[in-house]
Amino acid sequence: MKRVGFGVYIHWPFCLAKCPYCDFNSHVRRGGVDEARFVRAYAAEIAATATRIPGRTVSTIFFGGGTPSLMQPASVAAVLDAVARHWTIAPNVEITLEANPTRVEAERFRAFHGAGVNRVSLGVQALDDAALAALGRTHSAEEALAAIALARHVFERYSFDLIYARPGQTPAQWRAELMQAISHAADHISLYQLTIEPETPFEALHRAGKLHVPDAAAARDLCDVTQDICEQAGLPAYEVSNHARPGAECRHNLVYWRYGEYAGIGPGAHGRLDVGGKRYATAAERRPDAWLSLVEANGDGLVENEALLRSAQADEFLLMGLRLAEGIDPQRYAEIAGRPLDLSRIADLIGYGLVETTAARRLRVTPAGFPLLDAVVADLAA
Ligand SMILES: C[S@@+](CC[C@H](N)C(=O)[O-])C[C@H]1O[C@@H](n2cnc3c(N)ncnc32)[C@H](O)[C@@H]1O
Ligand code: SF4
Repeated sequence: MKRVGFGVYIHWPFCLAKCPYCDFNSHVRRGGVDEARFVRAYAAEIAATATRIPGRTVSTIFFGGGTPSLMQPASVAAVLDAVARHWTIAPNVEITLEANPTRVEAERFRAFHGAGVNRVSLGVQALDDAALAALGRTHSAEEALAAIALARHVFERYSFDLIYARPGQTPAQWRAELMQAISHAADHISLYQLTIEPETPFEALHRAGKLHVPDAAAARDLCDVTQDICEQAGLPAYEVSNHARPGAECRHNLVYWRYGEYAGIGPGAHGRLDVGGKRYATAAERRPDAWLSLVEANGDGLVENEALLRSAQADEFLLMGLRLAEGIDPQRYAEIAGRPLDLSRIADLIGYGLVETTAARRLRVTPAGFPLLDAVVADLAA
């Protein structure tokens, strides 16, 4: 299999408050978190994973959450040490940490940098105080801008996230907010359309008719504004929700989308490990305390460890790769699946204007095809 890098994902599952739209594996602990115990468990899981996949060179490490900016910098350093004890760290390794842009967390930026973090991804979400309050965020727009300014100063690279297609948001408002955001961006920005996730407070409000989000046509208009402004600013979409100057893409997320190998460490983390010619899909127990107990008893917190059939790998390869503007290499699909893509289906999708082939013989989804991505993938994978 073509090497597309090896990434290590570390999941920190705690937040100060639970945002009403979020269905990530994140938990609020009033009594505090025994960080030293968690760090020992992370180190144990890293060791157990390295026993299965020794000799790797780590190209990227990503601390996601939850809110990893709540970790003590010494804990981040200890986890990075554990990674370095078991694998080789590439000289140009990308080490990202997700941070909430509150004042308290920004105060730790220098120490995170000292621990080895060289990229932060800030959850700004909105640059409007009323919208931030409606999203249940605990920071103001001013605090977020201060955190961005500090991130620019401290880290080699930074990015931030915004959520759009929020209740009542008009294209004109979003245009102004996005232009303001871009004036604070460096070379990467993530722009997510608000999704109403199952079993969240937003879903309950939505079902009760108390939360009105833009309908599909209005969301499409907001998405068009997004693409327009980002392209003009030299930050084209390289993935459905991610924009960067060419060369400044998040390399860790590219490992997922290019279907590379990655280890998932921590509660609820997923991995894809290549062992003995097979690709294993791993998933860890989601509940933090249950995960701790599993790791302390078994050395890892896995609740899933399944060798994927070639057909399942091929489906995943399509699902991930077609999110990217660069698309996929049909030859690599054939190697994974053991059979080529169906040329007549491709011809039909090209006829509908949903996919196209590039000069480099890659296959990619067109801008008109992106809103129908799931259907396109399902058709090609059938
Ligand atoms: C793991 S979360 C965030 C990291 C950090 N805890 C924070 O909130 O700033 C990653 C990103 O997913 C996005 N996100 C989470 N839930 C979402 C939803 N329901 N709809 C759209 N975007 C969402 C947010 O932009 C968020 O920053
Ligand atoms: S959006 Fe971020 S801070 Fe809010 S609950 Fe989810 S992970 Fe935690």
